[in-house]
Amino acid sequence: MINSIKKLLKKHNITLAAHYYEKDEIFNIADLTGDSLELAKKTMNLKTPLIFCGVSFMGESAKILNPNIPVYMPKLASCSMARMAEEQKVKNDIKLLQKEKIDFIPVCYVNSSANIKAIVGELNGSICTSSSADKIIKWAINQNKKIYFLPDKNLGRNMAKILNLKASIIKEDNWQKSDIICFDGHCSVHQLFMPEHIDFYKERFPDIKIVVHPECSPEVCEKADFIGSTSQILNYVKEHPNETMAIGTEFNFVNRMKRDINPNIYVLSSTKPECPSMNETTLKELYDLLIAIDKRKPYNEIKVDKKIAKNSLLALNKMMEITK
Ligand code: 13P
Ligand code: SF4
Repeated sequence: MINSIKKLLKKHNITLAAHYYEKDEIFNIADLTGDSLELAKKTMNLKTPLIFCGVSFMGESAKILNPNIPVYMPKLASCSMARMAEEQKVKNDIKLLQKEKIDFIPVCYVNSSANIKAIVGELNGSICTSSSADKIIKWAINQNKKIYFLPDKNLGRNMAKILNLKASIIKEDNWQKSDIICFDGHCSVHQLFMPEHIDFYKERFPDIKIVVHPECSPEVCEKADFIGSTSQILNYVKEHPNETMAIGTEFNFVNRMKRDINPNIYVLSSTKPECPSMNETTLKELYDLLIAIDKRKPYNEIKVDKKIAKNSLLALNKMMEITK
């Protein structure tokens, strides 16, 4: 099947992009890999079709950034955190912020739907990723505004701690006084990591390095030696090939680093932290899509409403400008 996939990709001049959390069978044959920011940048000036293996918001962002090429996804798998940021809930938060006369800029994690990104674009806000959140937050704070950070309350609060700012979840006690006011959303995978998992590993290996993604809770991040996006974690692991480490992020990615770079890596949680959405895409799904494209009957082509795309692009471009 792999050879047929490669032939069909070549025949149709299709670029294959895959996030680090994808299954090895997909990740190993991808032309482009990276964290969310890198993938958005790498797919930006493509001239030929793209197949994106990841979750829906990634395919949508690629389409918004590349309106003139077809973007397909073998599976339209949706990220649990992106699903939490329902349009009505976000609009209610914004109404409340306006009613309280809070002068704010929305900063929206890329793990969100195009509809939410469009709301943020209309309000002159910016998208951020886990690797660019610090720069985007500084950009907003330098305008003497408060930040409405959505949808990940953990990323918002972790960044506040790193940047010495005050953060709270909207409607929490005294939330109006915080620099960063967070939507109440989180990742269902990264919530699996607990401070007691860190205590367990530290007891067994006193010198162990704890490495986590900033979608983990503040209680977990506070105890970590390194916090970073997937690419930043990969670089850290490459720079420390002989250290014993426990890593708090998605299983496929951690397992690949353990196999290929450092056998002394442990998965931080006691349950297998698989992202069900990322794991929906299989080699068979990719093959079926390519056969359909070959028969001129493609499916799962990403389409974004024109007005939504225009306003989301404003917010995505702001991130591109700030991180260039
Ligand atoms: P990265 O931008 O770090 O790759 O994160 C994407 C993601 O969905 C993490 O759960
Ligand atoms: Fe979404 Fe969490 Fe999966 Fe990342 S790991 S894609 S945030 S559900």
